[in-house]
Amino acid sequence: MTRAYNFSAGPAMLPQPVLEKARAEILDWQGSGMSIMEMSHRGKEFISVAQKSEQVLRELLSIPDNYKVLFLQGGASTQFALLPMNFRAEGQSADYIVTGAWSKKAIAEAKRLGDVNVAATTEQSKFTRAPKQSELTLSTSAAYVHYVSNETIGGVEFGYIPDTGEVPLIADMSSTILSRPIDVKRFAVIYAGAQKNIGPAGLTLLIIRDDMLQKCPDSLPSMFNYKSLADSDSMLNTPPTYSWYLASLVFEWLAQKGGLSAMADVNKRKAEKLYQTIDTSDFYKNPVELGSRSWMNIPFTLKDSKLDAEFLQQATQKGLKTLKGHRSVGGMRASIYNAMPESGVDALIEFMQEFAVRNS
Ligand SMILES: Cc1ncc(COP(=O)(O)O)c(C=O)c1O
Repeated sequence: MTRAYNFSAGPAMLPQPVLEKARAEILDWQGSGMSIMEMSHRGKEFISVAQKSEQVLRELLSIPDNYKVLFLQGGASTQFALLPMNFRAEGQSADYIVTGAWSKKAIAEAKRLGDVNVAATTEQSKFTRAPKQSELTLSTSAAYVHYVSNETIGGVEFGYIPDTGEVPLIADMSSTILSRPIDVKRFAVIYAGAQKNIGPAGLTLLIIRDDMLQKCPDSLPSMFNYKSLADSDSMLNTPPTYSWYLASLVFEWLAQKGGLSAMADVNKRKAEKLYQTIDTSDFYKNPVELGSRSWMNIPFTLKDSKLDAEFLQQATQKGLKTLKGHRSVGGMRASIYNAMPESGVDALIEFMQEFAVRNS
């Protein structure tokens, strides 16, 4: 069997050693005679997995003690609604920075429930850049400032953490979390769907500063209330145990690889060589401004879109799969999360160069 290089934006490739370990443990987890997914989430076996996963994640991201880590369901999209429900008080507004499809969805959900202020939008430049700090019109009375640190569809990433003064900063890091070290203390809340850089779909990670939890209104249904979820250690109901277990294997794999600084070196190198291939050819194009280019999701177009189908078909034959761009933008997109080996990026570059020569 040969594993393909899977460039999907999510659910995305998982590290092979993680899948191998999961396979080895699937019938009999550590001598228990059953799979971890068949066990009670309240039993000591699963609790040990849950605790270990949090401990390793805390070490990887250097999460300070005054932050809770939650392992929830619902995906990042559910948080688009839960964030304003938990943190925006009656009559208060929240600031949103809009840089693409996902931040638009986040603000749309927040708008259903109350007031929002567009602190900046780059729609006029077709979402091909992140705004500069000087372009943000922030309000000191906002409940929080929300932004998407990496727009998965447009491939636009903030090269800096916005300074929001005393106003809590909330980031959707679904497609960039764990790709490099981050300064967690700059954030009030970080959240991410798991299916890109954490593990399989079904799990959603939240890192929430303790003082934020004091703002969650008691009137909220408990499954929607971050404080209730935190107080129950993410076990108010049955959590997605198998996804959580796989995430724990991913965290351990990351630790074994040398942690997030080591991942950052590889990720930077992978992204730079792919951008260089695009920029030095007159066959491929990436529209994103330098300084806002994503390390994780790299969209590109071909000189002639009539060649798209052929490009995808030949790439697939070479084991380079799921390169089709998002339906809303077309073209191609290579998602190169932690689990994409550098050899996968090298193989893609080689294919792109050959394809360009053959079709120029
Ligand atoms: C940046 C970002 N935010 C939110 C989402 C939505 O995530 P979910 O499908 O987990 O709700 C995605 C999904 O691709 C995403 O890339």
